[in-house]
Amino acid sequence: MTDTRHLSGIYAGIPATDGAGVQLTRMVGTPDLDMVDPFLMLDRIDSDDPDSYIAGFPNHPHRGFETVTIMLEGLMRHQDSVGNNGLLKPGDVQWMTAGRGIIHSELPEMVDGRLRGFQLWVNLPAEKKMMPPGYQDIPADRIGSAAFDGGSARVIAGSYLGIDGPAQPQISIRLLDVRLDPRATWTINPDDGSDLFICVYEGSLVGTAADGNRHEIEAPGTVLFHGQGGVSVIAGDPGAEILYCEGQPINEPVAKYGPFVMNTREELQQAVDDFNAGKLATG
Ligand code: CO
Repeated sequence: MTDTRHLSGIYAGIPATDGAGVQLTRMVGTPDLDMVDPFLMLDRIDSDDPDSYIAGFPNHPHRGFETVTIMLEGLMRHQDSVGNNGLLKPGDVQWMTAGRGIIHSELPEMVDGRLRGFQLWVNLPAEKKMMPPGYQDIPADRIGSAAFDGGSARVIAGSYLGIDGPAQPQISIRLLDVRLDPRATWTINPDDGSDLFICVYEGSLVGTAADGNRHEIEAPGTVLFHGQGGVSVIAGDPGAEILYCEGQPINEPVAKYGPFVMNTREELQQAVDDFNAGKLATG
């Protein structure tokens, strides 16, 4: 009986444009890697060219899931239709529960410099898709860091090495921002039955497939693992910075249309109708 999850796939991500022309790399939510239940999408932004990000994401709606914004560098202003307003600074995280509906904007509050970070979409089960919207602004100093031999992990959600993440997701999620020294080994024991992926966003990471072969993943890359049990990876020569995303799969049908994620086509049509009728602005 083996207790190890093996590397089962590596995905480089694809260039994409979203919002008012923001250039990003879609790591999850691509034709090759549609979703990792309960994670619907992961977008990575990393640019020091203002033309590629300055227009940001003007007002747009969401319904049916949660958006998680993880800022690494730069400044981003959030405003939404239920009155929330916040400035995301380096290291900050924003956890927004769209629920039955919200309209928000995410605009860079900078004219030059490097903008670097992620947006992760976490699905909601049917019973929570129409809940009232929620918003958690989590400053960097509320995110505890767990030190271990060869690195450290910022615990954003869930718990790790005795540190509880400050985010309060609607479903069971563990989200870690991990930094590994060159050639350091990192091992974690995911919860039974959980799905997970690792996004390597700086440096490189080495994982082992079921046949024993080692594969090196250069940033940016997403790694999937097969089976149950622990995960063990090794940082490459430059070290590694990785986003570890683990959650219990929802196992429900997914119907997606742009910023709406529901269970059926009919619910998607209702979302569009409600948006056109102005019903998503009021929460
Ligand atoms: Co949005």
